[in-house]
Amino acid sequence: MKFISKFLFTLTLVITVVLGQHLKDVEIEAKVNELLHQMTFAEKVGQMTQFSGTNKRYEQMIREGKIGSLLNVIGAEVNNRIQKIAVEESRLGIPLVIGLDVIHGYRTIFPIPLAASASWDTVLIRKAAEIAAKEAASAGIHWTFAPMVDIARDPRWGRIAEGAGEDPFLGSAMTRAQVLGFQGKSLADPLTLLACGKHFVAYGGAEGGRDYNTVDISERTLREIYLPPFKAAVDAGVGTLMSAFNEISGVPTSANQFTLRKILKGEWGFDGFVVSDWNSIGELVAHGIAKDRLEAGVKGLTAGVDMDMEGRCYTTDMEALVADGTLSDGLIEDAVRRILRMKFKLGLFEHPYIDENLQKKLILHQDHIQTALELARESIVLLKNEKDVLPLNRKELNTIALIGPLADDKDAPLGTWRCQGKQEDVVTVYEGLKNKFGDDVKIIYAKGCDVKNNSRSEFNKAIKAARKADVVVMVMGESADMSGEAASRADLNLPGVQAELINAIAETNKPIVLVLMNGRPITLSNIESKVTAIVESWHLGIQHGNAVANVLTGDYNPSGKLTVTFPRSVGQIPIYYNHKSSGRPNNPSDKFTSKYIDLPSSPLYPFGYGLSYTEFRYTGIEVENNRLLSTDELVVSVNVKNTGKRGGDEVVQLYIRDMVGSVTRPVKELKGFQRVALEAGEQKTVQFQIPVRNLGAYDLDMNYTVEPGEFGIMVGGNSVNVLTTTVEVVRLK
Ligand code: NOJ
Repeated sequence: MKFISKFLFTLTLVITVVLGQHLKDVEIEAKVNELLHQMTFAEKVGQMTQFSGTNKRYEQMIREGKIGSLLNVIGAEVNNRIQKIAVEESRLGIPLVIGLDVIHGYRTIFPIPLAASASWDTVLIRKAAEIAAKEAASAGIHWTFAPMVDIARDPRWGRIAEGAGEDPFLGSAMTRAQVLGFQGKSLADPLTLLACGKHFVAYGGAEGGRDYNTVDISERTLREIYLPPFKAAVDAGVGTLMSAFNEISGVPTSANQFTLRKILKGEWGFDGFVVSDWNSIGELVAHGIAKDRLEAGVKGLTAGVDMDMEGRCYTTDMEALVADGTLSDGLIEDAVRRILRMKFKLGLFEHPYIDENLQKKLILHQDHIQTALELARESIVLLKNEKDVLPLNRKELNTIALIGPLADDKDAPLGTWRCQGKQEDVVTVYEGLKNKFGDDVKIIYAKGCDVKNNSRSEFNKAIKAARKADVVVMVMGESADMSGEAASRADLNLPGVQAELINAIAETNKPIVLVLMNGRPITLSNIESKVTAIVESWHLGIQHGNAVANVLTGDYNPSGKLTVTFPRSVGQIPIYYNHKSSGRPNNPSDKFTSKYIDLPSSPLYPFGYGLSYTEFRYTGIEVENNRLLSTDELVVSVNVKNTGKRGGDEVVQLYIRDMVGSVTRPVKELKGFQRVALEAGEQKTVQFQIPVRNLGAYDLDMNYTVEPGEFGIMVGGNSVNVLTTTVEVVRLK
């Protein structure tokens, strides 16, 4: 009885919520139609137009209904003032939607997305996005151009820093977490942001890793590798997507009817809107598929780009094309409808202004800084730890030599796209270590060299410092401007003379702990054997120094795992774990197999890899049922035991391999992961439940199917060392 009434109660609740939402949607559609009906052509293209910054001319255009959106205008006061022009002085009073690149925090800067993904912690990543949204929204921002969900298999590409690495499954999980974090429970909540999955699509596939470059990929690779995180964004309710700069196999993505119209708005039923990237419609002229901006505008709009960012391609000149039938009025109506719908969903018509007092209360709130520290710690990946040099034993230590251009640098930790992040908020590694050690341990600091220039004049000072120390901590890597947009590199070694300085310090025979700060995998083969430990700390945001100090001293046991492969050499790129077998898989004793003659094919550090100060032992992989229908669930369990002396977190990863299919399949594909906390000596049984449907692939006709046959199931703490079993998928009778 109790059960039935509880069930009925839940059912009523669900119906009320669903119906309530539906009614709201119906209301919104009615309001959108009403507005559309009243709009002139100029007002319609106005809604489809976005400009950066503000000035008197733009403000007059807003008054005339010729701009629907701005980006890069920051601060509650200024945004309220401009919004007032739109709402109170324009004919129809349609509010502006104001966007900004809030990528990894607004003022409280979190780790860059590539770093954060190494935490594999979707809960914390969602929380960080929620905080970023609160801070930015309090400054009058409604919309963030994030998350960047581009899969990146080429570390030369500087924008690898902005995404979650090389894997579509992990990328999808990170996408979902960020979209839910930014958008919260309701877009109408004034402290949430409209999210934007970008850059649609395959922008990360740039040839040679050179930003903005050509992409030439098959439909299969598009669907299997690059599209899934975008689908995850749509499934999580993302309100907008951004069309990219690149072409795919001859068709620029900002004029691509196949990806935008057919897949996104057709197959996936996306009802939000698409904004172009900065002038990416205008660039159709340089791509060579439009003779001028007007033709570019027609191509962009026809493909399904609803809003033109800084391209000046959607103009009233289009009216004549509508009149002569070249352009369908329906396309314009559809674009405006999508944009207005989102403005209603954001509640901008009811509450166009933000309370100006919120900024002070929210920005850099103590809780936000605490979350920044937690995520920064979890993002650190321990790559090497010989002779257990780490954690540093403060009882046995008298003196540390702290060397390197980034050891006391307040800029690099902010990374690319630091939004309103300020150097004054940053804790450097030097400061972090001082916070931890106080007067207990002497720290001799010597910069040694710069990141980029080749001066060796400070080498001697650094060598002297090393001689006086028990251990040397070297903080090296890339400055913030060396990754992110337009920051591709052809050489991935430590820049400048940093490697040389490591070699010089190594001559002292002191143990060296190398702390890396970088926005992408770098090649370490030239110095790896010279150092005792390597701590990958990326660009961790304002709490960088405290997080690193926590790890170096063992107050936090590192748990991060790489979400991108570290190559031995640039020549191995592209290198990624989920590659195909080839007809001649690498066999060391057979020359005529797929390999290099001058390097192993394996990476220096594989996907999923990361050490801890304790050890985890995997045993007893089991499947609940080894004959499965495609409608079943695959249930896999494994025992994970902490066999070391301290507690720690382990990221348990599950991979599959479709052994024989109608098309070739990757040798491994991530299909599940879990972060588990284990005390010293503790053992847990970790269970994965995976719908068999998720094991499928696109067949010869590009239909997603789970083909019957054998699947390898692998579980482990990285993509190489795994326990293996198999299951059989059988045909539905
Ligand atoms: C160009 C970048 O590609 C994109 O990611 C960003 O959102 C826009 N500029 C706006 O700043």
